[in-house]
Amino acid sequence: MTILEMQKEILRLKKQRNILVLAHSYQRREVVEVADYTGDSYALARYVQNATAENVVMCGVRFMAETVKILSPEKKVYLSHAEAGCPMAEQLDPELLISLKQQYPSAAVAAYINTTAELKTLCDVCVTSSSAERILSKLPQKEILFIPDINLGRYIESKLPEKKFHFIQGGCPTHVRATAQDVARMRELYPDALFLVHPECRFEVVQKADYVGSTSGIMDYAKQSAATEFIIGTDNSIAEHLQYECPQKKFYPLSKDLVCHNMKLTTLPDVLNCCTGEGEEITLSEEVRFAAKQCIDRMIELGG
Ligand code: 13P
Ligand code: SF4
Repeated sequence: MTILEMQKEILRLKKQRNILVLAHSYQRREVVEVADYTGDSYALARYVQNATAENVVMCGVRFMAETVKILSPEKKVYLSHAEAGCPMAEQLDPELLISLKQQYPSAAVAAYINTTAELKTLCDVCVTSSSAERILSKLPQKEILFIPDINLGRYIESKLPEKKFHFIQGGCPTHVRATAQDVARMRELYPDALFLVHPECRFEVVQKADYVGSTSGIMDYAKQSAATEFIIGTDNSIAEHLQYECPQKKFYPLSKDLVCHNMKLTTLPDVLNCCTGEGEEITLSEEVRFAAKQCIDRMIELGG
Protein backbone atom coordinates (compact mmCIF):
# COMPACT_ATOMS: atom_id res chain seq x y z
CA MET A 1 0.00 0.00 0.00
CA THR A 2 1.18 3.56 -0.63
CA ILE A 3 1.01 6.21 2.08
CA LEU A 4 -2.06 7.69 0.41
CA GLU A 5 -3.85 4.33 0.10
CA MET A 6 -3.16 3.60 3.75
CA GLN A 7 -4.41 7.00 4.83
CA LYS A 8 -7.62 6.45 2.82
CA GLU A 9 -8.16 3.06 4.47
CA ILE A 10 -7.67 4.60 7.93
CA LEU A 11 -10.21 7.34 7.13
CA ARG A 12 -12.70 4.68 5.92
CA LEU A 13 -12.26 2.59 9.08
CA LYS A 14 -12.58 5.64 11.33
CA LYS A 15 -16.03 6.31 9.89
CA GLN A 16 -17.12 2.69 9.80
CA ARG A 17 -16.04 1.87 13.39
CA ASN A 18 -16.62 5.25 15.08
CA ILE A 19 -12.93 5.77 15.87
CA LEU A 20 -11.38 9.00 17.05
CA VAL A 21 -7.70 9.35 16.16
CA LEU A 22 -5.77 11.70 18.42
CA ALA A 23 -2.18 12.69 17.76
CA HIS A 24 0.35 14.48 19.91
CA SER A 25 2.11 17.34 18.10
CA TYR A 26 5.36 15.29 17.89
CA GLN A 27 3.84 12.64 15.65
CA ARG A 28 5.01 12.09 12.09
CA ARG A 29 3.44 14.25 9.41
CA GLU A 30 1.57 11.37 7.74
CA VAL A 31 0.05 10.38 11.11
CA VAL A 32 -1.01 13.95 11.96
CA GLU A 33 -2.75 14.09 8.56
CA VAL A 34 -5.19 11.28 9.50
CA ALA A 35 -5.83 12.55 13.06
CA ASP A 36 -9.11 14.15 14.09
CA TYR A 37 -7.28 16.32 16.55
CA THR A 38 -3.63 17.18 17.19
CA GLY A 39 -2.34 19.15 20.15
CA ASP A 40 -0.28 19.36 23.32
CA SER A 41 -0.87 17.14 26.36
CA TYR A 42 -3.31 19.55 27.98
CA ALA A 43 -5.37 20.10 24.82
CA LEU A 44 -5.55 16.34 24.19
CA ALA A 45 -6.81 15.68 27.74
CA ARG A 46 -9.44 18.42 27.40
CA TYR A 47 -10.52 17.30 23.91
CA VAL A 48 -11.24 13.74 24.92
CA GLN A 49 -13.66 14.84 27.64
CA ASN A 50 -16.29 15.88 25.09
CA ALA A 51 -15.58 13.18 22.51
CA THR A 52 -18.40 10.75 21.75
CA ALA A 53 -16.48 8.11 19.73
CA GLU A 54 -16.60 4.50 20.97
CA ASN A 55 -12.94 3.88 20.11
CA VAL A 56 -9.91 6.12 20.51
CA VAL A 57 -6.51 5.58 18.92
CA MET A 58 -3.94 7.66 20.78
CA CYS A 59 -0.90 8.35 18.61
CA GLY A 60 1.66 9.41 21.16
CA VAL A 61 3.15 7.75 24.22
CA ARG A 62 1.69 5.49 26.91
CA PHE A 63 0.87 8.08 29.59
CA MET A 64 -1.23 9.96 27.00
CA ALA A 65 -3.29 6.85 26.20
CA GLU A 66 -3.64 6.19 29.94
CA THR A 67 -4.95 9.74 30.44
CA VAL A 68 -7.61 9.10 27.80
CA LYS A 69 -8.64 5.86 29.51
CA ILE A 70 -8.69 7.51 32.95
CA LEU A 71 -11.04 10.22 31.67
CA SER A 72 -13.16 7.97 29.42
CA PRO A 73 -13.34 4.44 30.87
CA GLU A 74 -16.30 3.53 28.66
CA LYS A 75 -14.19 3.93 25.49
CA LYS A 76 -11.85 1.37 23.97
CA VAL A 77 -8.49 3.15 23.96
CA TYR A 78 -5.60 1.95 21.80
CA LEU A 79 -1.98 3.02 22.12
CA SER A 80 -0.62 3.48 18.61
CA HIS A 81 2.60 1.53 19.29
CA ALA A 82 2.98 -0.77 22.30
CA GLU A 83 6.64 0.21 22.88
CA ALA A 84 6.00 3.95 22.82
CA GLY A 85 6.60 5.08 26.38
CA CYS A 86 7.88 8.34 27.82
CA PRO A 87 11.09 7.48 29.74
CA MET A 88 10.49 10.43 32.06
CA ALA A 89 7.08 9.04 33.08
CA GLU A 90 8.75 6.02 34.67
CA GLN A 91 11.76 7.73 36.26
CA LEU A 92 10.36 7.89 39.78
CA ASP A 93 9.68 4.76 41.75
CA PRO A 94 6.33 4.97 43.66
CA GLU A 95 8.12 3.80 46.85
CA LEU A 96 10.52 6.74 46.60
CA LEU A 97 7.62 9.14 46.13
CA ILE A 98 5.99 7.78 49.28
CA SER A 99 9.15 8.50 51.27
CA LEU A 100 9.49 11.98 49.70
CA LYS A 101 5.94 12.76 50.77
CA GLN A 102 6.90 11.84 54.34
CA GLN A 103 9.92 14.13 54.06
CA TYR A 104 7.76 17.12 52.97
CA PRO A 105 4.43 16.57 54.75
CA SER A 106 3.10 20.11 54.17
CA ALA A 107 3.87 20.15 50.44
CA ALA A 108 1.27 19.67 47.72
CA VAL A 109 2.45 16.90 45.39
CA ALA A 110 2.27 18.10 41.79
CA ALA A 111 2.89 15.58 39.02
CA TYR A 112 3.82 16.55 35.51
CA ILE A 113 1.27 14.71 33.35
CA ASN A 114 4.28 12.74 31.97
CA THR A 115 3.93 10.18 34.80
CA THR A 116 2.46 6.69 34.96
CA ALA A 117 -1.13 6.21 36.16
CA GLU A 118 0.30 4.50 39.25
CA LEU A 119 2.40 7.55 40.21
CA LYS A 120 -0.60 9.81 39.66
CA THR A 121 -2.51 7.89 42.32
CA LEU A 122 -0.03 9.32 44.88
CA CYS A 123 -0.29 12.98 43.77
CA ASP A 124 -2.59 15.91 44.54
CA VAL A 125 -2.66 17.55 41.14
CA CYS A 126 -1.37 17.07 37.61
CA VAL A 127 0.03 19.80 35.40
CA THR A 128 1.19 20.11 31.81
CA SER A 129 3.75 22.49 30.34
CA SER A 130 0.98 24.84 29.16
CA SER A 131 -0.96 24.82 32.42
CA ALA A 132 1.61 24.40 35.24
CA GLU A 133 2.07 28.06 36.15
CA ARG A 134 -1.69 28.74 36.17
CA ILE A 135 -2.52 25.62 38.21
CA LEU A 136 0.29 25.78 40.76
CA SER A 137 -0.32 29.49 41.43
CA LYS A 138 -3.85 28.54 42.55
CA LEU A 139 -2.83 25.87 45.06
CA PRO A 140 -3.44 26.87 48.70
CA GLN A 141 -0.16 25.21 49.82
CA LYS A 142 2.97 27.36 49.79
CA GLU A 143 5.21 24.29 49.45
CA ILE A 144 5.18 22.12 46.32
CA LEU A 145 6.89 18.79 45.71
CA PHE A 146 7.16 18.79 41.92
CA ILE A 147 7.82 15.48 40.12
CA PRO A 148 9.58 14.36 37.96
CA ASP A 149 10.89 17.11 35.62
CA ILE A 150 13.38 19.40 37.37
CA ASN A 151 13.74 21.57 34.24
CA LEU A 152 10.05 22.37 33.91
CA GLY A 153 10.01 22.69 37.70
CA ARG A 154 12.81 25.28 37.76
CA TYR A 155 11.11 27.30 35.04
CA ILE A 156 7.80 27.38 36.96
CA GLU A 157 9.68 28.18 40.18
CA SER A 158 11.10 31.27 38.45
CA LYS A 159 7.53 32.38 37.66
CA LEU A 160 6.12 31.73 41.14
CA PRO A 161 8.60 33.20 43.67
CA GLU A 162 5.91 33.07 46.38
CA LYS A 163 6.03 29.23 46.36
CA LYS A 164 8.70 26.96 47.81
CA PHE A 165 9.57 24.07 45.48
CA HIS A 166 11.17 20.67 46.12
CA PHE A 167 12.46 18.69 43.12
CA ILE A 168 13.91 15.32 42.22
CA GLN A 169 16.58 14.84 39.51
CA GLY A 170 14.13 13.82 36.77
CA GLY A 171 13.80 15.12 33.24
CA CYS A 172 13.31 14.45 29.56
CA PRO A 173 16.21 12.54 27.97
CA THR A 174 15.48 14.23 24.64
CA HIS A 175 15.22 17.89 25.67
CA VAL A 176 18.23 17.61 27.98
CA ARG A 177 20.42 17.16 24.87
CA ALA A 178 20.01 20.83 23.88
CA THR A 179 22.74 23.02 25.34
CA ALA A 180 23.44 26.73 25.83
CA GLN A 181 26.19 26.30 23.18
CA ASP A 182 23.55 25.14 20.69
CA VAL A 183 21.63 28.36 21.35
CA ALA A 184 24.76 30.51 20.89
CA ARG A 185 25.65 28.72 17.62
CA MET A 186 22.15 29.01 16.17
CA ARG A 187 21.73 32.66 17.25
CA GLU A 188 25.00 33.45 15.45
CA LEU A 189 23.89 31.60 12.31
CA TYR A 190 20.40 33.16 12.31
CA PRO A 191 20.64 36.52 14.11
CA ASP A 192 17.14 37.64 13.02
CA ALA A 193 15.38 34.48 14.21
CA LEU A 194 13.30 34.32 17.38
CA PHE A 195 14.18 31.44 19.69
CA LEU A 196 11.13 29.45 20.90
CA VAL A 197 11.68 26.74 23.49
CA HIS A 198 9.90 24.00 25.42
CA PRO A 199 10.34 24.25 29.22
CA GLU A 200 11.59 20.63 29.37
CA CYS A 201 14.93 21.98 28.12
CA ARG A 202 17.67 22.79 30.64
CA PHE A 203 16.92 25.99 32.56
CA GLU A 204 20.02 27.73 31.15
CA VAL A 205 18.64 27.07 27.63
CA VAL A 206 15.11 28.20 28.56
CA GLN A 207 16.47 31.45 30.02
CA LYS A 208 17.84 32.41 26.60
CA ALA A 209 14.49 32.13 24.81
CA ASP A 210 12.23 34.79 23.32
CA TYR A 211 9.22 32.56 24.05
CA VAL A 212 8.76 29.55 26.35
CA GLY A 213 5.75 27.28 25.85
CA SER A 214 4.20 23.90 25.21
CA THR A 215 4.30 22.24 21.80
CA SER A 216 0.98 23.89 20.85
CA GLY A 217 2.12 27.16 22.43
CA ILE A 218 5.26 27.21 20.28
CA MET A 219 3.27 26.46 17.12
CA ASP A 220 0.62 29.11 17.83
CA TYR A 221 3.26 31.70 18.68
CA ALA A 222 5.21 31.08 15.46
CA LYS A 223 2.07 31.19 13.31
CA GLN A 224 0.80 34.43 14.86
CA SER A 225 4.15 36.22 15.08
CA ALA A 226 5.06 38.92 12.57
CA ALA A 227 8.62 37.51 12.61
CA THR A 228 9.62 35.25 9.73
CA GLU A 229 12.47 33.14 11.15
CA PHE A 230 12.44 30.91 14.22
CA ILE A 231 14.85 28.60 16.04
CA ILE A 232 12.76 25.76 17.51
CA GLY A 233 13.91 24.28 20.82
CA THR A 234 11.86 21.12 21.06
CA ASP A 235 11.41 17.83 19.16
CA ASN A 236 12.27 18.52 15.52
CA SER A 237 8.83 17.48 14.28
CA ILE A 238 7.55 20.88 15.45
CA ALA A 239 9.88 22.70 13.06
CA GLU A 240 8.78 20.31 10.30
CA HIS A 241 5.02 20.78 10.93
CA LEU A 242 5.47 24.55 11.09
CA GLN A 243 7.38 24.53 7.79
CA TYR A 244 4.43 22.76 6.13
CA GLU A 245 1.89 25.10 7.68
CA CYS A 246 3.80 28.37 7.16
CA PRO A 247 5.79 27.92 3.92
CA GLN A 248 6.59 31.65 3.78
CA LYS A 249 8.48 31.49 7.11
CA LYS A 250 11.71 29.66 8.06
CA PHE A 251 12.09 27.20 10.96
CA TYR A 252 15.47 25.96 12.20
CA PRO A 253 15.75 23.06 14.70
CA LEU A 254 17.90 24.11 17.68
CA SER A 255 19.79 20.80 17.47
CA LYS A 256 19.65 17.75 15.23
CA ASP A 257 19.66 15.65 18.41
CA LEU A 258 16.26 16.92 19.54
CA VAL A 259 14.33 13.82 18.45
CA CYS A 260 12.06 11.82 20.75
CA HIS A 261 12.49 8.26 19.50
CA ASN A 262 9.44 7.09 21.41
CA MET A 263 7.22 9.58 19.65
CA LYS A 264 8.67 8.50 16.31
CA LEU A 265 7.86 4.80 16.84
CA THR A 266 4.31 5.17 15.57
CA THR A 267 3.96 4.58 11.85
CA LEU A 268 0.93 4.69 9.58
CA PRO A 269 0.72 0.84 9.55
CA ASP A 270 0.50 1.01 13.37
CA VAL A 271 -2.44 3.40 13.15
CA LEU A 272 -4.12 1.12 10.60
CA ASN A 273 -3.52 -1.83 12.90
CA CYS A 274 -5.26 -0.06 15.79
CA CYS A 275 -8.15 0.96 13.53
CA THR A 276 -8.76 -2.72 12.75
CA GLY A 277 -8.87 -3.39 16.52
CA GLU A 278 -5.55 -5.24 16.63
CA GLY A 279 -3.39 -2.71 18.49
CA GLU A 280 -2.73 -2.66 22.23
CA GLU A 281 -5.84 -1.77 24.18
CA ILE A 282 -5.17 0.15 27.40
CA THR A 283 -6.58 -1.43 30.54
CA LEU A 284 -6.34 -0.04 34.07
CA SER A 285 -7.73 -1.46 37.28
CA GLU A 286 -10.71 0.58 38.49
CA GLU A 287 -8.82 1.29 41.72
CA VAL A 288 -5.84 2.85 39.90
CA ARG A 289 -8.04 4.63 37.37
CA PHE A 290 -10.23 6.21 40.04
CA ALA A 291 -7.29 7.32 42.21
CA ALA A 292 -5.32 8.69 39.23
CA LYS A 293 -8.41 10.55 37.99
CA GLN A 294 -8.52 12.71 41.13
CA CYS A 295 -5.37 14.62 40.21
CA ILE A 296 -6.34 14.91 36.52
CA ASP A 297 -9.76 16.27 37.53
CA ARG A 298 -8.01 18.79 39.77
CA MET A 299 -5.80 19.80 36.83
CA ILE A 300 -8.86 20.50 34.69
CA GLU A 301 -10.69 22.27 37.51
CA LEU A 302 -7.75 24.64 38.18
CA GLY A 303 -6.44 24.79 34.60
CA GLY A 304 -9.67 25.93 32.99
P1 13P B 1 3.37 19.24 25.61
O1 13P B 1 2.34 19.21 26.68
O2 13P B 1 4.00 20.58 25.45
O3 13P B 1 2.80 18.75 24.32
O4 13P B 1 4.58 18.31 26.02
C1 13P B 1 4.50 16.93 26.07
C2 13P B 1 5.79 16.32 25.94
O5 13P B 1 6.00 15.17 26.20
C3 13P B 1 6.87 17.19 25.50
O6 13P B 1 8.03 16.51 25.53
FE1 SF4 C 1 8.82 11.98 27.11
FE2 SF4 C 1 10.69 13.70 26.40
FE3 SF4 C 1 9.58 12.15 24.57
FE4 SF4 C 1 8.19 14.15 25.67
S1 SF4 C 1 10.00 14.34 24.37
S2 SF4 C 1 7.48 12.07 25.32
S3 SF4 C 1 8.98 14.11 27.77
S4 SF4 C 1 10.83 11.49 26.30
